[in-house]
Amino acid sequence: MREWTREERYRVLHSADEIIDLHDKIVSSDYRQKFHVQPITGLSSDPNGFGYHNGIWHLYYQWCPWGAVHGLKYWYHATSTDLIHWTNAGVGLWPDTVYDNRGTHSGSAFSKGDDLYLFYTGNHRDEDWTRTPYTCAAKLGEDGKPVKLPKPLFGPRPDYSEHQRDPKIVYVPSKDKYFIFIGAQNLDLKGRALIYESDSLLEGWKFAGELKVPGFEDFGGMWECPCIVNISGKDVLIFSPQYTKLPGRAESTNHNIYLIGKMDYDTLTFTPEGDYRFLDFGFDFYAAQFAANVSDPDKAILIGWIGLPDNHYPTEEEDWEGSMSVVRELRLGDGQLIASPVEGFEQLRDKELPADGTLPAFGEFLLKAGAGDMDLNLFTKADGTGGLKIHYDDAAKTLTVDKRGMEKRFNQNVGEVLEVPLDRALSDIRVLIDRCSVEMFINGGEATFTAHVYPTKDEHNYTVTEGACVTIYSLKPSVKDDFVF
Ligand code: FRU
Repeated sequence: MREWTREERYRVLHSADEIIDLHDKIVSSDYRQKFHVQPITGLSSDPNGFGYHNGIWHLYYQWCPWGAVHGLKYWYHATSTDLIHWTNAGVGLWPDTVYDNRGTHSGSAFSKGDDLYLFYTGNHRDEDWTRTPYTCAAKLGEDGKPVKLPKPLFGPRPDYSEHQRDPKIVYVPSKDKYFIFIGAQNLDLKGRALIYESDSLLEGWKFAGELKVPGFEDFGGMWECPCIVNISGKDVLIFSPQYTKLPGRAESTNHNIYLIGKMDYDTLTFTPEGDYRFLDFGFDFYAAQFAANVSDPDKAILIGWIGLPDNHYPTEEEDWEGSMSVVRELRLGDGQLIASPVEGFEQLRDKELPADGTLPAFGEFLLKAGAGDMDLNLFTKADGTGGLKIHYDDAAKTLTVDKRGMEKRFNQNVGEVLEVPLDRALSDIRVLIDRCSVEMFINGGEATFTAHVYPTKDEHNYTVTEGACVTIYSLKPSVKDDFVF
């Protein structure tokens, strides 16, 4: 692993010339994704500013241009008309004011009338590296580039720690008001969300209070990227609790969970209907964000980061890492969310391939399970050894995913085996395989499992229990790995 000095990580980017060579170097990597948004250079992490505006879907990601390292963060911009094909649209937001001198950190978007607004975290640090996070806003100009407001909407509260960031803006029709949710940590180092309110998008913001979530007063040390949406009349709150371990997540201290319940904006209370659930059970899924301005009240549109803070991935050697997930649709099931790849995803299917024990480098693998236990090993060698082992135990109704058999192992200290408890017997798994990730939609999307995998040239086979029925498609690429500054 390369050691970076602070100067190197926080170097300011001035022109395309400084990174074009980095881009040219990585595009030939066997691990560059074919249908996922990925960093143009360096590192991508959280999705930001995701929403629909005037016929276009906008997506940004946290971006450190210089390499596979978390340093000075920009927003990089990609656009789409169908949430499946993505076009690189250039640097989306850059740290160039005193309020964001050490990074434009995560935030959200909101479309109103002819304008698209971005709400982001200005990560200010002074000379002795003391952090002051500001909540800032910008409006997209006609050239598609943001024009920042000269002053932040608000600064941090002194009665919470320096961890106050990731504004998610929502409009609440019943109150005819805007609310911003902020991820925070209190002075007892417990994760919290703070709520601000205003009648207008760019001014008049005042602190409304702390979000109360009964039963979740001691649940992680920081709630990153809180986000709320309404699906079919129920409120769904997601956030990424960190600095804590949760049952079922091995040694990981970063998670992404959801609660279904009711949000009361008078009392600032979110009352969950049941316990929390994992938004995804996999090794690498974090900081997910719901899209803004979705018109269908019965579904939410979600995207996450395939990766975790403080984790390291094999493409660090190639000076890049990270990927967005595919865009997912979430609907309300029986006390839980049901996820699927975004509507129309099937149009990427190119050819049905013979189910002959070999995998395409990127494609879709559909499995219909037979009765009883099942073993599916993806990315085995030709002789059937190694690979990503997926075992279903019918008596326990659990699916175990074990990545220890892969040649490229990573984040071993975080855990390489995870279990997915199922509500009913395994019936099907839909696996989206891209060149460095798998996303599994299990039992029609009742559970999802997302992970980075870096198969070598010898790891493109699979084995499966007799009685299971497999259909494999190659997919057409839907992202172009071009350099747009
Ligand atoms: C989540 C996060 C956010 C922050 C951003 C910085 O991964 O830590 O809380 O805004 O990343 O890149």
